Amino acid sequence: MNDREPIGVIGAGWVGLVTAACFSELGHDVYVRDILQEKIDSLSRGEVPIYEPGLSEMLGRNSERLHYTLEMADLLPNAELLFCCVDTPPSYSGDADLSRVNRVVEEVGGSTDHALVMKSTVPVGTGRSIRRTANGAIGYVSNPEFLKEGSAVNDFMNPDRVVVGFEDSDDGFGERVAALYEPLDAPIVHTDVASAEMIKLASNAFLATKISFINEIANVSEELGANVDEVARGMGLDARIGPQFLRAGLGYGGSCFPKDVSALKQLAGNTGYHFQLLTSVIEVNELQKRRAIGKLQKHLGSLVGKEIALLGVAFKPNTDDIREATSLVLAGRLQSEGAHVRVYDPIASGRAGSLLGGARVAESALDAIDGADAVVLVTEWPEFRELDWEGDVKQKLRSPLVVDGRNFLDRELLTRAGYTYEGVGR
Ligand code: UDX
Repeated sequence: MNDREPIGVIGAGWVGLVTAACFSELGHDVYVRDILQEKIDSLSRGEVPIYEPGLSEMLGRNSERLHYTLEMADLLPNAELLFCCVDTPPSYSGDADLSRVNRVVEEVGGSTDHALVMKSTVPVGTGRSIRRTANGAIGYVSNPEFLKEGSAVNDFMNPDRVVVGFEDSDDGFGERVAALYEPLDAPIVHTDVASAEMIKLASNAFLATKISFINEIANVSEELGANVDEVARGMGLDARIGPQFLRAGLGYGGSCFPKDVSALKQLAGNTGYHFQLLTSVIEVNELQKRRAIGKLQKHLGSLVGKEIALLGVAFKPNTDDIREATSLVLAGRLQSEGAHVRVYDPIASGRAGSLLGGARVAESALDAIDGADAVVLVTEWPEFRELDWEGDVKQKLRSPLVVDGRNFLDRELLTRAGYTYEGVGR
């Protein structure tokens, strides 16, 4: 034990492990609890069950401060601040499924010595209802995460801001949580619980809105002869707009944006408010995922019997996460149009399995391209830019048609090499 505040982490998933690693790096003893024996066993052996750059090294070098357990009873005597990092997937109704969070609340039970610190993304109002159920018997702090896959460790250690939501009656737990983040030298937003919950959902919904907006500008630019990359560059230099999240493409995916945008729309709907803007953001994103099909048809006519190569399966590069990935929608649509689909991803295709329908999982990008009538670039993995487009790729393709769904490839080089090149809004 050291003199820093020991903390508990409940749920050793992606958020929980990044939280545990970073607090241990900051010098805290961290007690990590998960219900899966297998996970606890491998973590105790020093094996990290997920891939996130820098995570395994950080957990390794702080192993003396990290304690893994299956039992809540091991956490409670050792730590008073308990970070809840269990997942809150969407349920059939569109609302977040809070069953795991509720189980945690039950297991922690009534203890005025402890506070539940909510990292999981929950609907606005969850904190209030947990506090009401617990009848003041446990502290509650909202401390949402804003981590991106692929840079989560860095995002945790260098946050734009830290949000800590608590009520005046909370016995100082909020201040104790805020104090944990002081070494990070980031602005700390002290606010009430409901506002903290809303900051998380509103931030993701706003970023998704930015993406759907630039995608619509791209679609109109195609008709009007403007280049969306230039437009985004010019817009992004306005400090009020900012350059990030203005990359046009085949829509956003992943485990957060689709889920959080729908959750906010649904929450508004539950109060009787129709969130018109988010309804459109979702619709634009769904249509955007399919736009590559129209571009293929423009050049190939009917897709029946055509061989189409999809490069990239993951929802973004540097991850093997395929949740809500555009590739899955495209593979399905192309096959229902009668095309034969082959896919390649440096690490994610193995995970997709049956979600890709009958698509053939290729061994390499060139294997996917061999004999294809067109290539669709779905995920901007750096290695796809490095392919020998002028040589190997061109020789293997049946016709030199490239639909670049992320404006990632060298358009001039491809055009010079004799390709028909279709980008997004270029
Ligand atoms: C996101 C948020 O950024 C993070 O704050 C939150 O905690 C979880 O959700 P993540 O899902 O890891 O993180 O991915 P991110 O890098 O934000 O990208 C999300 C999606 O938007 C990807 O599909 C990406 O391809 C797409 N995107 C992003 C665009 O289409 N254009 C852009 O300009 C930026």
